[in-house]
Amino acid sequence: MDTRLLERDGDIDSWKEVLLIYNSALKQISTKLEILNDEFQHVHRYNPIEHIKSRIKTPESIVKKLKKHGYESTINNMVRYVNDIAGIRVICSFSSDIYQIAEMISNQKDIKVISVKDYIVNPKASGYKSYHMLVTVPVYLSDRIENAKVEIQIRTVAMDFWASLEHKIHYKFEGNAPEHIREELVECARMVSDLDARMLALNEEIQHIERQQKGEDV
Ligand code: GTP
Ligand code: MG
Repeated sequence: MDTRLLERDGDIDSWKEVLLIYNSALKQISTKLEILNDEFQHVHRYNPIEHIKSRIKTPESIVKKLKKHGYESTINNMVRYVNDIAGIRVICSFSSDIYQIAEMISNQKDIKVISVKDYIVNPKASGYKSYHMLVTVPVYLSDRIENAKVEIQIRTVAMDFWASLEHKIHYKFEGNAPEHIREELVECARMVSDLDARMLALNEEIQHIERQQKGEDV
């Protein structure tokens, strides 16, 4: 990883320490999510989480973001102003899983929810849908506790499929995609929501039948 970009504080060690804290925060949240998923499997006989992806923002994009907001590239500024240095994406099957996962995360005593952006209830103009949470989680070091910020994005497989294609297109056209492509993406986002709703209804029907069958067997 290129650390030269953030060397203005003159301290590579503090950059490495910051990275270590954010990496630990990602591990903490991932483990918490895995435990919740296992417990959910045990109680409800299914896994709400399909998979989890996590990443640390590159120094290049940290610097780009700081510049965009008019801040100098210092370690203090990045810790203070860049909220998505540690990012985790939780992909689930059904839209109802999203809110269950969000609630389970908020109920954890050591996690503090800083803010929530519900782009499912209020999708972006692009058509983007996802549930975002900014949280802090304590990282226990040998001599102190650091609360690290983690951006959690929760979305369905279908929303994730849409978002990754839209991201590629956005990147390719540097944010200025032709009108008809943007319109098509908005239409695809509508189809994604429709698909999610139908799959959820189907799943609920199947669960209902399963419960009835179990009831009959007893
Ligand atoms: P960023 O500066 O992009 O981090 O935005 P923000 O701080 O205003 O937060 P926001 O909740 O809008 O977006 C955070 C993240 O959500 C982004 O970094 C993307 O990963 C994702 N995201 C937001 N909007 C879109 C979108 O229109 N399309 C796609 N594909 N992803 C999006
Ligand atoms: Mg971001």
